[in-house]
Amino acid sequence: MIPMVDIAAGHTALQEDIANALKDIVATGQFVGGPHVQGFEKEAATFLGAPYAISCASGTDALHMALRALDIGPGDEVITTPFTYFATVEAIFYVGAKPVFVDIDPHTFNIDVSQLEEAVTPATRAIVPVHIFGQPAAMDQLMPLAKKHHLHVVEDCAQSFGARHGADFTGTFGDVGCFSFFPTKNLGACGDGGLMTTHSPELADKLRLLCSHGSNERNHHKIIGYNSRLDSMQAAILRIKLNHVHECNRARRQVADWYREGLGDVSGIEAPTVNAGGDHVYHQFTILVPEQVRETIRHHLSEQGIASAIHYALPAYRQQALPEEYHSHKLPVAESVTARCLSLPIYPEMSREQVDRVVQAVRESW
Ligand SMILES: Cc1ncc(COP(=O)(O)O)c(C=O)c1O
Repeated sequence: MIPMVDIAAGHTALQEDIANALKDIVATGQFVGGPHVQGFEKEAATFLGAPYAISCASGTDALHMALRALDIGPGDEVITTPFTYFATVEAIFYVGAKPVFVDIDPHTFNIDVSQLEEAVTPATRAIVPVHIFGQPAAMDQLMPLAKKHHLHVVEDCAQSFGARHGADFTGTFGDVGCFSFFPTKNLGACGDGGLMTTHSPELADKLRLLCSHGSNERNHHKIIGYNSRLDSMQAAILRIKLNHVHECNRARRQVADWYREGLGDVSGIEAPTVNAGGDHVYHQFTILVPEQVRETIRHHLSEQGIASAIHYALPAYRQQALPEEYHSHKLPVAESVTARCLSLPIYPEMSREQVDRVVQAVRESW
């Protein structure tokens, strides 16, 4: 069986370190807050080159609190991509704002910055680009447009921990960078977790308040906040795993290169394109195949004991959860990519032999 990800394989070499760290935490009884949480925030900030990093309970919370911290709310429009995990869009609804969807680039699957300006209206307050599948969005073009129109930028970095755009890591371009440590992510905890990065001391203070019931002084609450904390066990595990994230991302790139080598000559298959100067960390390896054969390929892979997945089956505007008015949207690239995308297994421990088995199975199913 070749799974989409093999989380256990990623922990084999770290098991003793993780067990020791957890034993210490149980012995001290410091389960919430404390030195591991502070240590992880400091180390993550240093790693990413962000002046402030504030941990929280999930990537979804990070996006929600980032929008709250920027005072985005009812009557505001937030531009984003329809090709993302639904949490990006949920966060916009949580604050009562209205998502405005801009189509995606057919090669990188990221928001198409050339169409962004047409979507700006007097009500637009922010852009939420998603660095989808681990490839940075075109931040060099997006940031000047955001500045020109005085828009905030909240980066959804849930899938892009450790990816650089030029010299800088994702999460350091906009007002706030939002990360997820869901176990399958490039930097994954053993449960839920999230992080918000920012250059602004004021935003950092506000994000900290929001995470902790609006309070920075016991029993005094300055704003209505949330209970959104990274617990110390997750923080301790993340500190250990942070030391290996570059190495894991390198291994993912190697797997992607093997896939490209094996599938590059198959007509009708499009492998993911990496932007010039870009630095894909392959949270997913998602190819495009003709719509009419996608299910045949998946069926054949499954018969060979190989997992596959559809990321994402629907553009976000067609999700049932959205108000009716969105359902008739039709952004042509998002429509085409959702009909043709197919994600193949990828994880740092994947061997050449496993990749070759997937490649062969895809080729035979053609
Ligand atoms: C693009 C994207 N945004 C947001 C999230 C939400 O993160 P979390 O699951 O930690 O809430 C995820 C992951 O699940 C994601 O892939």
